[in-house]
Amino acid sequence: MNTKVKLAGVTLKNPVMTASGTFGSGAEYAEFVDLNRLGAVVTKGVSSVPWEGNPTPRIAETYGGMLNAVGLQNPGIGLFVERDIPFLMKYDTKIIVNVCGKTTEDYCEVVRRLAGQPVDMLEINISCPNVKEGGIAFGQDPKAVEEITKEVKKYAKQPVIMKLSPNVTDITEMARAAEAGGADALSLINTITGMKIDIHRRAFALANKTGGLSGPAIHPVAVRMVYETAHAVNIPIIGMGGVSTAEDALELILAGATAVSVGTANFHNPTATVEIVEGILEYMEEYGVKDIAELVGGVDQ
Ligand SMILES: Cc1cc2nc3c(=O)[nH]c(=O)nc-3n(C[C@H](O)[C@H](O)[C@H](O)COP(=O)(O)O)c2cc1C
Repeated sequence: MNTKVKLAGVTLKNPVMTASGTFGSGAEYAEFVDLNRLGAVVTKGVSSVPWEGNPTPRIAETYGGMLNAVGLQNPGIGLFVERDIPFLMKYDTKIIVNVCGKTTEDYCEVVRRLAGQPVDMLEINISCPNVKEGGIAFGQDPKAVEEITKEVKKYAKQPVIMKLSPNVTDITEMARAAEAGGADALSLINTITGMKIDIHRRAFALANKTGGLSGPAIHPVAVRMVYETAHAVNIPIIGMGGVSTAEDALELILAGATAVSVGTANFHNPTATVEIVEGILEYMEEYGVKDIAELVGGVDQ
């Protein structure tokens, strides 16, 4: 059985990867998960300078998921290159670095500094709902999506994945704009903006008031958006949103995703990624699927 998938010229041993921001840079999980078994590790977002993130509380549990407003706290590209890339290099898995910024220049600076690094792909987060400037501001306007994609592509030495926001009326419009700007692949979905109120304190559960909803609650939205996007563009899609089991991953693949990322599930089940790799193999065996490529977009029309 072949579980290898090809994403913009990069071959992954299987389609299972980690979702940015939920797996650190791999080191935090290495004692639970054999990173060699993953198709790729997608790192947490990295910016040109260190970011402190938002005030606390910045996490709240919800039905079937969680809200977060971490605000992309990270140590900046300098420390990341020095510490995190050498750690990941020890493993036989692909390295995908997630990039964030407040201005186009910020994104380009990080991409430029990664140009000479042993990194396989770049994932550009233009969809974080928890950062006031930047992030989402780029991801909700098709012109801005196309522009930033074009700019990043000027400096990128690795294939560029644009990560799209679900907080839009029509995701296919953003997907087409990224493709027009030269994106090599797309990631979707990021979190869906939500809010929680603590009735006893009569206060917002999160200091930021709003946060990004993730986990099983958003999975059907992800399946729908991956399906719509797969019919709108010709570049490969990495599907994510509430993937906790192999069934969830297979749904996204059948909807049109070439690979899938596992996010919130890692928090309550640190071995979720490897269980999903195994579950996909069992499914392929049960249904006599010789090559995982047969499943991509394979839902009956
Ligand atoms: C705590 C937390 C931090 C996140 N940080 C990032 C990030 O740095 N960059 C990014 O592109 N997405 C980030 N995300 C979004 C996830 O990568 C993913 O798109 C989203 O959570 C949906 O997948 P899930 O339901 O499996 O978690 C974060 C999500 C969570 C829950």
